[in-house]
Amino acid sequence: MKIAVLPGDGIGPEIVAQALHVLQRLELPFEIERAPVGGAGYEAAGDPLPAATLALAKAADAILFGAVGDPRYDALARSKRPEQAILGLRKALALFANLRPAQVHAELTQASALRPEIVGGLDILIVRELTGDIYFGEPKGIRRTDTGEREGFDTMRYRESEVRRIARVAFEAARKRKRKLCSVDKANVLETSQLWREVVAAEAKAYPDIALQHMYVDNCAMQLVREPKQFDVIVTGNLFGDILSDEASMLTGSIGMLPSASLDASGRGLYEPIHGSAPDIAGRGLANPLATILSAAMMLRHSLGHPEAAERIERAVGRALRDGYRTADIYTAGTRKVGTQEMGEAVAARL
Ligand code: IPM
Ligand code: MG
Repeated sequence: MKIAVLPGDGIGPEIVAQALHVLQRLELPFEIERAPVGGAGYEAAGDPLPAATLALAKAADAILFGAVGDPRYDALARSKRPEQAILGLRKALALFANLRPAQVHAELTQASALRPEIVGGLDILIVRELTGDIYFGEPKGIRRTDTGEREGFDTMRYRESEVRRIARVAFEAARKRKRKLCSVDKANVLETSQLWREVVAAEAKAYPDIALQHMYVDNCAMQLVREPKQFDVIVTGNLFGDILSDEASMLTGSIGMLPSASLDASGRGLYEPIHGSAPDIAGRGLANPLATILSAAMMLRHSLGHPEAAERIERAVGRALRDGYRTADIYTAGTRKVGTQEMGEAVAARL
């Protein structure tokens, strides 16, 4: 099993190191190769996604990704900025299906900003389309208008085929869960969303066992904090999914807890925490490695054919939490505050 490991920037290297520590404890035949990406790619090869890094990612069975982004590179042309690395990987590898599960561990109910009765036992899955929408739509740019003023523009677009394939992923996922799917759009305003809604509704005919509901994105943002347990699977476009998944992460206590899988049509994938590079705490051993460790578990399940190893990791994370281990982002009184490495070791020891 060849795993391409792309640690990236900021806290990326620290959290990925702990995920590898846990993976190595499994004693499975992994072949691990690292490559620079993001700001690190720019430093190494003048490109956030160096050709050698992309080639490695393409050749691997799975990709474990840390995080990219650093304010030091904010002044660069957009094509050289760290974020282009992850967007380029998603596009080049056709990783259109982004699974972002948000589960509240019993031990972390107190760490959520919401009341325990609202979030206790929460288990939702956000299925985010990842290679289309306003993220990639052309044309985009900054131009001069006739009055000489500058105008920024992006294009939101979705093809039927793109909506259909992500809808199918979501319907199939719902089938393995509580058989409830909520499709999120802004069909009261956007043409793109109107088409999205029509295509999802048409696809629903093939899934009569799934209860489908449509919801506007503003209402969904509100419902997620009002009564999140009404949801099972949420399917939405790239931009809305980006925003709603950050929101959903806070229901679980911390954005440091949410893993993700980005899959192509054949199940090959890239695995990364949904959080960013957190430059403010980078290199200080403070970051929560659990989202990355749980991403490694998703990798074992979805791309490497080792669901039992995935469960072992998830159980070990649960035990480490039960035994009181907490990084600063999920710390509550009466628990034991630890750093990145100690948390990784606590999980590895409980495998
Ligand atoms: C995410 C991130 C990325 C996105 C950034 C880093 C480009 O926020 O994975 O959610 O917007 O998709
Ligand atoms: Mg995001």
